[in-house]
Amino acid sequence: LSPALYPHRNMSGKHITVVIDILRFTTSLIAAFENGVSAVIPVASLSEAENLSKQGYPVAAERDGLQLPFADFGNSAADFNTDAVRGKTLVYSTTNGTGAMTMAAGNGPVAAAAFANLPAISDWLYTRNENVVILCSGWKNLFSAEDALCAGALTGMLLNLGTWTLNGDEAGLAINLWNLHKDNLKEALTSTSHYRRLIGLGVDPLPDYTVRTGISDVIPVYTGGIIKNINER
Ligand code: MLT
Repeated sequence: LSPALYPHRNMSGKHITVVIDILRFTTSLIAAFENGVSAVIPVASLSEAENLSKQGYPVAAERDGLQLPFADFGNSAADFNTDAVRGKTLVYSTTNGTGAMTMAAGNGPVAAAAFANLPAISDWLYTRNENVVILCSGWKNLFSAEDALCAGALTGMLLNLGTWTLNGDEAGLAINLWNLHKDNLKEALTSTSHYRRLIGLGVDPLPDYTVRTGISDVIPVYTGGIIKNINER
């Protein structure tokens, strides 16, 4: 079990990767599935997203915090609180999160975690019983505290399940960070640099959905070029 607290990492060997991008991609991805999206195609490049938009796909696209003009949706959980996405395959491109997902795909399945789906994702990982890398998306290859906080929460949960041994020192750091802030999560998130960046852009960084832990059973998993909720009932 290896938490990777910043995204630019060379992780070799077969494993399940769990990507975390609390503000906002993985939080919003879970919200999209909660609102009935049937599948998501993550694309790293905006030209690909724009092409798929011309082909008729609904597209969520964000760069540097802002929705792209050609896109139907931005990157907020609140954007998917609509019937417009029900039953649709959504194309999604963001500054860091979608790139982290597609980059990790060579090593095996890539799941997405946020506070919303924490117990669900740890239960699923337990049943898979494989090596796990928790990959924090960060911001342009730099560390993001909000992702490390969630990595700490997930690492703690997985350790309690007893199957894994830890690789490296990042796990302890992440768990300590989580223990320090778990009782005032909202405050901790509002002191992050990406929160301030989004506020500066006039974007709401923190829809309530972001801080509500354990409210979703959605487990988005990316394999073969497409993300599906593998916990669909
Ligand atoms: C990303 O994927 O880079 C983030 O989710 C950026 C954002 O807040 O829109």
